[in-house]
Amino acid sequence: MQKSILSLIGFLYKYFVRKILFLINPEIIHRQAVAAGQFLGESKLTKKIISPIFRSKDASLQQSLFGCAFNNPVGLAAGFDYEARLTQILPSLGFGFGTAGTITYLPYDGNPRPMLGRLPRSRSLMVNKGLKNLGIAKTLESLKNKTFEYPVGISIGKTNTARHKTTEEAVNDVVRAFEIAEISGVPLSYYELNISCPNLISPIDFYSTSNLKTLLDALSLLYFSKPVFVKMPISKSDNEIKEMMDLITQYRWIKAVILGNLQRDRNHPSLMQKEVKKFPQGNFSGLPCQNQSDRLISLVYKEYGQKIKIIGCGGIFSAQDAYRKIKLGASLVQLITGLVFEGPQLVSQINQKLVKLLKQDGYASIKEAVGTI
Ligand SMILES: Cc1cc2nc3c(=O)[nH]c(=O)nc-3n(C[C@H](O)[C@H](O)[C@H](O)COP(=O)(O)O)c2cc1C
Repeated sequence: MQKSILSLIGFLYKYFVRKILFLINPEIIHRQAVAAGQFLGESKLTKKIISPIFRSKDASLQQSLFGCAFNNPVGLAAGFDYEARLTQILPSLGFGFGTAGTITYLPYDGNPRPMLGRLPRSRSLMVNKGLKNLGIAKTLESLKNKTFEYPVGISIGKTNTARHKTTEEAVNDVVRAFEIAEISGVPLSYYELNISCPNLISPIDFYSTSNLKTLLDALSLLYFSKPVFVKMPISKSDNEIKEMMDLITQYRWIKAVILGNLQRDRNHPSLMQKEVKKFPQGNFSGLPCQNQSDRLISLVYKEYGQKIKIIGCGGIFSAQDAYRKIKLGASLVQLITGLVFEGPQLVSQINQKLVKLLKQDGYASIKEAVGTI
């Protein structure tokens, strides 16, 4: 019964709702979708109605990692809920965890428009928000006195400003944001450290191991109360990724890496050039991220899998996509673009199918499947 309802929602979304939504400015649709999600999340009654349709409870999907209990391995990636307004509704839609943000120390209104675009034939979104957000103090204030039904984390990055001229200034900005999060009292389960936003105006980044080391050394002094996951770039060479991983795995408070962020390569074979040309700025989500994310998961699992966990992110549109990332080495997965293309039932469908795929392969749990190919 649950399966049929989900298939019907998916069908209606794909053949009717999406066709209409895709005619309207994506930023307007995003804003309205978040407002609707927040509204639904505030009512116990709506959650009671929605939950039985979307939630998946199966012991094979459950994991205990970094001191957090995950009911299933599928989470919302950073960027969709950048104002932390969806924490109350996402568990009812079947998500196993969710990241709010990326949030920065100071607020940022976003890069010059367009900040968001659709590339339907490339199965991708153009993203040029540059970490638009309300700033950490205001965002966490809105989460005060909230309780969460599933692990909620926030992604923290460097304020998008050209004013930081030195690495120290940039590092201090990130440290201050984490300090505010640590004393906020909000019952967060984890932090993401976003070092890989590709559309920043700032001259300072943390890709070089020397800048990254300065940042991680400074953050070490905070003695984090929660696990930290580092959100990695995907548009880097294997050697660059290995250099970053050699460094990251020296810090015991970093419990996982997320592989990874947006595709920077405008000539990536998955991108239809006709669609790309509509957007002179920005980077790309969805299908153009898929292969590189998969490849890096495999690489990092083989070389560092004993030291650190992996969260797979990039181009998940189906249970098969999620399962492949798990078998390559990811303990958890995250997505955004799949939801936009497939509909709000996608996470539940992925979870239902994952249960079957695990059984088919003779695994009693996700943990057993991790890194098996
Ligand atoms: C609209 C949008 C905004 C995003 N903003 C952020 C962000 O603020 N921080 C971040 O770490 N990643 C951000 N990302 C990247 C996603 O978290 C994810 O890494 C990427 O989209 C690949 O996953 P997907 O193919 O499932 O969308 C954003 C992606 C999208 C589509």
